[in-house]
Amino acid sequence: MPFIFGMLAGETDFTNRTAETEQLMRNFEGGINTILISPRRWGKSSLVAHAGRTLQRKNKNIRVCHLDMFGAKNEAEFYSLYSSAILSAASNRLDDAIEFSRKFLSRFIPKLSIQPQPESEISVALDWKEVQKNPDDILNLPESIAKSKNMRMVVCIDEFQNIASFDNPLAFQKKLRSIIQKHKYVTYCFYGSKRHMMMDVFTSPSMPFYKFGDIILLDKIKKTDLVRFVQKRFKDTGKSIDKAEAALICDLTECHPYYTQQLAQQVWLQTQLKANTEIVEASHERLINQFSFFFQVQSDSLSSPQINYLHALIMKEAKLSGKDVIERYRLGTSANVVKIRQALQEREIIDSLEGYPQILDPYFAEWLKTRYFGSRRL
Ligand SMILES: Nc1ncnc2c1ncn2[C@@H]1O[C@H](COP(=O)(O)OP(=O)(O)OP(=O)(O)O)[C@@H](O)[C@H]1O
Ligand SMILES: [Mg+2]
Repeated sequence: MPFIFGMLAGETDFTNRTAETEQLMRNFEGGINTILISPRRWGKSSLVAHAGRTLQRKNKNIRVCHLDMFGAKNEAEFYSLYSSAILSAASNRLDDAIEFSRKFLSRFIPKLSIQPQPESEISVALDWKEVQKNPDDILNLPESIAKSKNMRMVVCIDEFQNIASFDNPLAFQKKLRSIIQKHKYVTYCFYGSKRHMMMDVFTSPSMPFYKFGDIILLDKIKKTDLVRFVQKRFKDTGKSIDKAEAALICDLTECHPYYTQQLAQQVWLQTQLKANTEIVEASHERLINQFSFFFQVQSDSLSSPQINYLHALIMKEAKLSGKDVIERYRLGTSANVVKIRQALQEREIIDSLEGYPQILDPYFAEWLKTRYFGSRRL
């Protein structure tokens, strides 16, 4: 299949992002910690993986480690995941992993039982009681290994916003920051969605991670690059699409990276040799219908004022907290409008982009507009 979605964009599926890739690589090599933030499915994980791959190819003395906080519901799980990921990235062979574990983790792994997983991932089970007594040694693992081998490590932690689910996120952040800021051989990259929470963690003077590193708010992908990408993937697979139709795909998806790949895939499937406008439009409609069940469930889970607020957004009302809008859309009070906005942001349904709240999912917005609100009157 020429297009992919729902998985990391690999070598051939990856478009553009040259500037962002270079910036990340520079930071990784130069020891500048990075915080990368964007709404869901805009391509953070793909970008960090791409930068890591490219850097490792260029500089053999660097090891890039990726771990996903999605799998860590609490601190105990985090430490296991963390040490496993670091051992995997730092070791060329199983012997290395055993050596590093003996040297740096022996007190946490009384009986060394490293499980070589499929695809040579390594997984370690730690003694949580011992870890609690001295978590510093675990957090120092990348520095200890890198120093002993005179190499550099880059530790990338995905879905960083998930630390909010730890028992005491603030205490954890304090501990993490105090340890890793001493590291000389390791660079960190933390990334995730939930802009508000991430910005709070990394830009509030009262928070432990204040001024920790370079903050990058990742953008969507430029239309010209996406158009070129779509055209190229069609061409590579013996089909074709004109610039105008490729541009139409990007307009319909508002250059949302995930949806652009998904719509392009639909169009590609329906195309014998050359795509046309009818195919693009029909594919777009088919996708909205396909998502409709999910969107129905999503809107059922919202309160009436929240739905009304989305209606006002769809209608492009300029002053959402204006008296007139509040009355017409039955939003309660202006204090209520703030609460509604925060709740929708927390659920990652909307975010303020370019200073104005927007519905993040272009298909949800389109579904609300054409199917849900449709001809419904205020
Ligand atoms: N550089 C890119 N070129 C082409 N497509 C991309 C690119 N980056 C992302 N995509 C598309 O977007 C999808 C989502 O990308 P990715 O999983 O990296 O996003 P994310 O920001 O990490 O999402 P989440 O917040 O849900 O973890 C990919 O499956 C792919 O279809
Ligand atoms: Mg991701």
